[in-house]
Amino acid sequence: MYDEYKFKMIQKEFFREEAHKFKRGARTHLRKLRCLIERLGVNANDAILELGCGNGLHAIRLEDICREYYGIDISSEMIESARSACRRSNFIVCDAEHLPLQDEVFDKVFCVATLHYLPRPFEALKEGVRVLKKGGSLGVAEPNPFNPVIFLDTFRYWKTERKRLALTGARLQSFFRNLLGDLKKKEIIFMPSDPKSLVRIYNRIDLALEDLPVLKHFGVEIILSGTRRESHKELR
Ligand SMILES: C[S@@+](CC[C@H](N)C(=O)[O-])C[C@H]1O[C@@H](n2cnc3c(N)ncnc32)[C@H](O)[C@@H]1O
Repeated sequence: MYDEYKFKMIQKEFFREEAHKFKRGARTHLRKLRCLIERLGVNANDAILELGCGNGLHAIRLEDICREYYGIDISSEMIESARSACRRSNFIVCDAEHLPLQDEVFDKVFCVATLHYLPRPFEALKEGVRVLKKGGSLGVAEPNPFNPVIFLDTFRYWKTERKRLALTGARLQSFFRNLLGDLKKKEIIFMPSDPKSLVRIYNRIDLALEDLPVLKHFGVEIILSGTRRESHKELR
């Protein structure tokens, strides 16, 4: 229990410092978001919740295309930065493992690059499913530890990033299978964000590689999505 608390405090401290230098709008970030929007089938009637919303990188793009956007994050500095950038969105400072929200209120719940910062990622996903309506969709994007760049980078930032190695596609798939009726998985992004002059070429190469046998499993990001078949009462 103490270790879990200590791990959470390390993350909080790290993101307090990161809050104001967080990069916005890199090619790879946008590709992740587009892929999730497509997989979740985001539409204008949706109430959307993001777990670990950071400084509003996704909120700023989603608030104009959905009915309501809510973002939660453990870092008050991140939420402060998100609030100042996104006027139509709602933000709450809280822990993703304990959401102060009612059951079955959101049409879509998603989480990007956040699960590996949590001592108990499965608890956060369970909370995400609890607040999801029956028929609603859950989406996750996590760095793929089988990608060589992600693998090496994990050792460079071991203090905060070490749990990446435990969150393989297979592990995430088993979380989803335990919680939802169905599941889709895909690995995306093979080329870097920069230089900006190569963005269009990199986008094309990425799309081609996503479908190549074997190689496709080594993309930088794992994207998972699924639909909630049962209501909360039926799940209990
Ligand atoms: C790498 S950032 C990703 C932010 C955003 N999803 C994005 O892709 O731009 C990870 C975020 O997770 C948040 N976080 C870490 N532990 C958390 C927890 N226990 N509950 C909620 N958020 C948490 C951090 O404060 C940080 O904003």
